[in-house]
Amino acid sequence: MDLRIAIVTCSDTRDLAADEAGAALEGLIADAGWTLAGHVVVPDEVASIAGAIAEAADRRAAHVVITCGGTGLSLRDVTPEATRSVCDRDVPGIAEAMRAYSMTKTRRAMLSRAVCMQRGAALVVNFPGSTKAARECWEAIADQLEHAACMTAGGGHPAA
Ligand code: MTE
Repeated sequence: MDLRIAIVTCSDTRDLAADEAGAALEGLIADAGWTLAGHVVVPDEVASIAGAIAEAADRRAAHVVITCGGTGLSLRDVTPEATRSVCDRDVPGIAEAMRAYSMTKTRRAMLSRAVCMQRGAALVVNFPGSTKAARECWEAIADQLEHAACMTAGGGHPAA
């Protein structure tokens, strides 16, 4: 399956040129042989983030939308709330797997409130915002993305 993956970076301070974590994710998507379905940077506002997720899932037909940043504990960190506001179903195992793997890298991983959810046929995954964290979260789940996206898009399990 040629996965179409969109990146939504959530940051009050970065723009596209300064989005190092987003650029690293672009590289990882290309290395995996998948297609970039868009890359935007939006401010840490629920409406902006929710709009960008919906745009990526509905208009850009992304199978996977990776948000980057805004998962922490500060009052400006609202990415999980924005994700919940435009998604239907929780996929807790993916967020749990990211946090479990991330805890082997830094105990600060427990400070991320990242969620993973489905919006229609798209899977939406919250990554933390640092380049290091984004790379580590990719390592944690990349091998399951294709199957997860296929199932989310309505595919069945491969024959055993
Ligand atoms: N997860 C991984 N894998 N690696 C990291 O370095 N940093 C943590 C955590 N998750 C980190 C991580 C830190 S320091 C914070 S504050 C939270 O993610 C939230 O980050 P965010 O607000 O940029 O989303």
